[in-house]
Amino acid sequence: MLKINNLHASVEDKAILRGINLEVKPGEVHAIMGPNGSGKSTLASVIAGKEEYEVDKGEIILLNENIDDLSAEERAHKGIFLSFQYPVEIPGVSVTNFIKTAINETRKAKGLEDMPAKDMLKLIREKADLLEIDRKFLSRSLNEGFSGGEKKRNEIFQMAMLEPKLAILDETDSGLDIDALRIVANGVNKLKSKDNAVIVITHYQRLLDYIVPDFVHVLHEGRIVKSGSKELAHELEEKGYDWIKEEVGA
Ligand SMILES: Nc1ncnc2c1ncn2[C@@H]1O[C@H](COP(=O)(O)OP(=O)(O)OP(=O)(O)O)[C@@H](O)[C@H]1O
Ligand SMILES: [Mg+2]
Repeated sequence: MLKINNLHASVEDKAILRGINLEVKPGEVHAIMGPNGSGKSTLASVIAGKEEYEVDKGEIILLNENIDDLSAEERAHKGIFLSFQYPVEIPGVSVTNFIKTAINETRKAKGLEDMPAKDMLKLIREKADLLEIDRKFLSRSLNEGFSGGEKKRNEIFQMAMLEPKLAILDETDSGLDIDALRIVANGVNKLKSKDNAVIVITHYQRLLDYIVPDFVHVLHEGRIVKSGSKELAHELEEKGYDWIKEEVGA
C-alpha cells in the first residue's frame, strides 16, 4: 500500500523529517506516537503532498507508484485521505454538498461520470447512519460554528464517503467526548478492509483500545526510533518517552 524510503523533509530550510522508513500493507493499522514536535503531523502532511514542505531526499510509494511528483489533489484522487484536509469554513455550502462535489471531482479525475443523485443520497444516508450522524447535521454549512467534536465527526464522515485507500488520522481523538470517540473509532473499524490501510497519529493509548493497531511506531526528532505491537503504546502511557530517548542515545 504505502512504502516510505529514507524520507527527509524540511520546512523553511529547517530539517524536520530525517530518514523515515515505513511500510504499511493493505489491511493494516499503524499508530504513530511521539513527543510534541517530533514530526508526526509533518509526516502526515508530506505523505498527503502539502506544498509547504520540501522533500529533500527519499521516496514515497503508493500502490507501487512513486507519488513524489504528484500534487496534494492528485494524491487525494489516488486514495490518500488526511484528516484536517478540509478544515475550511464554507458558509452556504452544506456538509452534503461539499462531499458531493469532492466525490464527483474524484470520479472526474478517474474519467467517470458524476454519481447519480439517487446513489449519492443512498450512500450519504448509509454512511451517516453508520457514524450515527444526525440528518440535520448534514445540511449545516461546512465547519461553520462546528464544535471540536462536530468537526472531527465531519472528517470521519468525509472519510467514510470517499472510501480512501490510505487514511491518515491526525489526532482525531483530541477534543472528542467518550461517546464521540467510540462512534468515530467504530466508524473507522467498520470502514477497515483488506484493501485499505489506516495510519493513526495519537498521543494517547486510549484511542488504540478502540482502533487496535497492528504496529505502533515512535517518532523522535524526525526518525522512527522504535516500532512494536500495541503493547508498546501501553508501555509509553506508563513510562513516557524518556526511556526511549535514552535507548537511542538522544
Ligand atoms: N509550516 C511550518 N513552519 C515552520 N515550522 C514547522 C512547520 N510545520 C512544522 N514545523 C516544525 O516542525 C517540527 C515538527 O512539527 P510537527 O507538527 O510535525 O510535530 P508533531 O509531532 O505533530 O507535534 P504535536 O504532537 O505537537 O502535534 C516542530 O518543531 C514545528 O514547529
Ligand atoms: Mg501534530
